Amino acid sequence: MRSVIITRPGDPSVLEIAERPKPQPGPHQVVIRTAAATVNPTDVLLREQGGGELPPPWTPGTEVAGTVEAVGEGADFQPGERVFAAVYPRRPEGGAQAELVLAPAASVVRTPDGVPDVEAATIPMNGLTVLQALRRLNLPPGATLGVIGSAGAVGQYAVQLGVHAGLRVLADAKPGEEELVRGFGAHEVIPRSDNPGAAFRAVVPDGVDGLIDAAVLDAAALAPIRDGGALATLRFWTGPTERGIRIEPILVLDDMERTESLQELADHLRTGRLTTRIADTYPVDRVQEAHRRLAAGGVRGRLVLVF
Ligand SMILES: NC(=O)c1ccc[n+]([C@@H]2O[C@H](COP(=O)([O-])OP(=O)(O)OC[C@H]3O[C@@H](n4cnc5c(N)ncnc54)[C@H](OP(=O)(O)O)[C@@H]3O)[C@@H](O)[C@H]2O)c1
Repeated sequence: MRSVIITRPGDPSVLEIAERPKPQPGPHQVVIRTAAATVNPTDVLLREQGGGELPPPWTPGTEVAGTVEAVGEGADFQPGERVFAAVYPRRPEGGAQAELVLAPAASVVRTPDGVPDVEAATIPMNGLTVLQALRRLNLPPGATLGVIGSAGAVGQYAVQLGVHAGLRVLADAKPGEEELVRGFGAHEVIPRSDNPGAAFRAVVPDGVDGLIDAAVLDAAALAPIRDGGALATLRFWTGPTERGIRIEPILVLDDMERTESLQELADHLRTGRLTTRIADTYPVDRVQEAHRRLAAGGVRGRLVLVF
């Protein structure tokens, strides 16, 4: 089966297409025939840094949508069912950018009727990330949630799921993107600024109760938060903190087999509470182009590889 592979860290030219052994499902595993797999910032990291202890070749990709190809013992799926799944790529079986993807059944849910595969593929990894962030921020309904990097995938889902959780959501936007962010349901749109503390506090002088930092500002994301509030960070930043602010480093890997969260995302997708944005689709053979485009920045919506 055809797969994207990386045999050494480097620029997008290290991405190749190769034949790899067909995966066989073990107990409680599913093999998915891929229709669509997204390209995310984490795939750029895997390409640039390599897979660490894991010997190459590495296959990137954390999100897949397609149809069930084969089912292991105890996995409650039927061949041919449409599904989407979150996948951890730093494992011997590789990630989602392959014609056939092995996944734990717990990481797989059925795709709602009428939702195309390219759209379903954009949901699981970043959706799980936001559900984990909201759970760990643990804000009561009516509390204020700040979102930085709101026009990105994590940011969009943070706004949409924060609103659904009954929070008052304040989301940043750069000039020209205010309507986009307001369209996600943000109650207040905050001008994107080098001084996010001043920008958010112009609306909530005491600071927000919690904040999801999808722009990876880390220490600079503390300023908009009230004393004793909480910050969800997305690239392992743990502090130092200030003013009693609790820092919650988010790790989606911890939730990749959290079926109830994936099911919740499928329900939000079905009802339209979560919406998807596709920047572009690329046949998998053009994976290098997709990486170049993502690395250049400013992409709005997800880039999706189709198989
Ligand atoms: N820890 C985990 O488990 C986990 C899981 C999922 C994602 N992540 C990480 O979360 C981050 C966000 O992912 P994503 O897919 O949402 O990325 P994305 O789609 O590229 O979105 C990032 C957003 O942040 C904006 N931004 C960049 N610099 C900014 C600044 N100084 N101030 C305000 N906004 C700024 C970007 O705008 P411009 O394009 O205009 O710069 C973009 O809208 C990535 O670093 C990703 O690796 C971590």
